[in-house]
Amino acid sequence: MHRRRHYIYPDVESLVGAFVCDVEKFLEESRQSDRPLHIALSGGSTPLAVFRTLRETTVPEAWSRVHICWGDERCVPPDDPESNYGSVRRILIDPLGIAGKNIHRIRGERDSGREAERYGRELRNLLPLEEGVPVFDWIWLGLGEDGHTASIFPHQIALWDAVQTCVVATHPQTGQKRISLSGKVINAARRISFLVSGKKKSPVVNEIVMKEGRYAEYPASLVAPASGYVEWFLDRDATSWLSGGTD
Ligand code: 6PG
Repeated sequence: MHRRRHYIYPDVESLVGAFVCDVEKFLEESRQSDRPLHIALSGGSTPLAVFRTLRETTVPEAWSRVHICWGDERCVPPDDPESNYGSVRRILIDPLGIAGKNIHRIRGERDSGREAERYGRELRNLLPLEEGVPVFDWIWLGLGEDGHTASIFPHQIALWDAVQTCVVATHPQTGQKRISLSGKVINAARRISFLVSGKKKSPVVNEIVMKEGRYAEYPASLVAPASGYVEWFLDRDATSWLSGGTD
């Protein structure tokens, strides 16, 4: 039975500040750990402020015992503004000079089917396995207004139960190809953190947290780590519906 925790902050700045503190603790843990730790970053815009702050508050050595992976990627080249890896490289990896041997990107420029297979193999070779499933120490997730998370969207919710480690998905509006961890890998993680901010997200946050409306159609509702816990880092705007508000 997984545990859920909701952390609600007055604004996105304090959300980012608190989350960065947790990342710094994680980096410290990795220095004490008898094995390297493995993290999967989320994409989209919400974590960008976290990367910017970490660029200012951490040093390259602090990352030396952490392997950085991605929960999903847009099938575009790394220098494309849409690239999740590209954003983190520009904002954090290159400026800080984090060692390349610890960076495990999804090659969005490659054939999506073959790349999903290749990345799955890389993760199974890199991470500890439980019943053949790679186990992340920490997975960061975002939430779309449509209830998607990583790159598993409601119109392809069956991908959540895929046997593969990584799946190829399609963005419902743009048709953009995406590569995403499957649900079994997400739910095998020791710790999962949702980072969600802004009014636009509040209706779907309300449905998922309160198990109301169409929550069962939302991939984000399927996040239930077997032995771990899932946290929701939310700003007040993203929870406006939780307090019975409507706007
Ligand atoms: C991606 C993501 C996706 C994202 C949500 C929220 O590559 O787009 O990983 O799941 O986290 O769409 O995106 P925002 O933070 O931009 O609202």
